[in-house]
Amino acid sequence: MGSSLSCCSSEKVDQGYSGTAGGGNHPWRIFTYKELHAATNGFSEDNKLGEGGFGSVFWGKTTDGLQIAVKKLKAMNSKAEMEFAVEVEVLGRVRHKNLLGLRGYCVGTDQRLIVYDYMPNLSLLSHLHGQFAPDVHLDWKRRMKIVLGSAEGLLYLHHEVTPHIIHRDIKASNVLLDSDFEPLVADFGFAKLIPEGVSHMTTRVKGTLGYLAPEYAMWGKVSESCDVYSFGILLLEVVTGRKPIEKLPGGVKRTITEWAEPLILKGRFRDLADPKLRGNFDENQLKMTINVAALCVQNEPEKRPNMKEVVGLLKGQDRPTMMGTRMESIKYKDELMVMDQNSDNDDDDQDGIDDDNDESRHHDDSGAYGVFGAMEAPKMRDPYKRFGNARGINAKLT
Ligand SMILES: Nc1ncnc2c1ncn2[C@@H]1O[C@H](COP(=O)(O)OP(=O)(O)OP(=O)(O)O)[C@@H](O)[C@H]1O
Ligand SMILES: [Mg+2]
Repeated sequence: MGSSLSCCSSEKVDQGYSGTAGGGNHPWRIFTYKELHAATNGFSEDNKLGEGGFGSVFWGKTTDGLQIAVKKLKAMNSKAEMEFAVEVEVLGRVRHKNLLGLRGYCVGTDQRLIVYDYMPNLSLLSHLHGQFAPDVHLDWKRRMKIVLGSAEGLLYLHHEVTPHIIHRDIKASNVLLDSDFEPLVADFGFAKLIPEGVSHMTTRVKGTLGYLAPEYAMWGKVSESCDVYSFGILLLEVVTGRKPIEKLPGGVKRTITEWAEPLILKGRFRDLADPKLRGNFDENQLKMTINVAALCVQNEPEKRPNMKEVVGLLKGQDRPTMMGTRMESIKYKDELMVMDQNSDNDDDDQDGIDDDNDESRHHDDSGAYGVFGAMEAPKMRDPYKRFGNARGINAKLT
């Protein structure tokens, strides 16, 4: 898009085009702090939409009547600056109806803000487990539209944009919903641009426990198939209405794959469907979706389908190669589980619905990114030499 951060470039370009809701070509531009301050009523608590690892998000309205969501960086340090730069850089490269594009940004001496279009139905998380969950806006048809649209957004990132982009933080709070419940994948602050010819890279592990592929959590090995794994977890979450990690009454935490595996093995597909659907779902589509999820969450990344195949399967154009669905479950090591904060809010909440807004309180204020802070990737080992499967995976924290 020819973007440049105004702080560090002499050739400043202060507007451009990016994909936004509905896939239209809307211009982005540089906002002044004063403008955003006025639009959000001084970043007041009343305007706050939620809080994430990056900072807080505020609803606002510009003088020309545009509704915006302003993400305000919470702390200025090099890590946060890097995320800001990555997000703006990546956002500028993407243009797809299922990816939340850039509306603008603001760079001041001690502020970094990103401006997006406001998504009136907030995030998928708010509908599955947050403040909208009791209203059950997500019927089966909408759920299928959300998973297919999100898959198409990811397909674009992995296969259509150059260089290819790995999102690295696919999860329910990063899928936003417009007024028609069309999904828009958001948050590219963790994204990795993959140079041509590179199949995978080793990085520090960031992201959200519960969605992390085993080879990524253990060895920091990142490739497109890490996103495929996270997408598989998202599929399960949308269909079952369960969280990726749940805290059981005794305090033990269980992953969604551990919960689903025995039900799938017994062919009890109907029992996997979200009870909030009250039986109103297409059973064939349910089986197909669970099947695709099972393919995506296989422990060995080479066995997972790519996003082109996932989209083909979800559209019913292709048939899964796997005969008889089996799901490989993973159990994260205790050291990782204690760092998970999403499920800590569960307590004895068995219906999976939180009593108040889940979105505003699942991050601590320690400046951690995602659910846990960046972890050094342990030294690379051949994942499959010592561990036949990834049960009880263990990522060393440093
Ligand atoms: N464009 C938007 N329109 C409407 N609501 C938004 C928008 N962007 C973010 N939000 C709301 O703000 C919340 C916080 O978003 P944010 O991305 O900062 O955190 P997160 O997704 O929960 O966690 P993480 O920092 O790990 O991505 C979201 O869950 C969503 O409800
Ligand atoms: Mg987010």
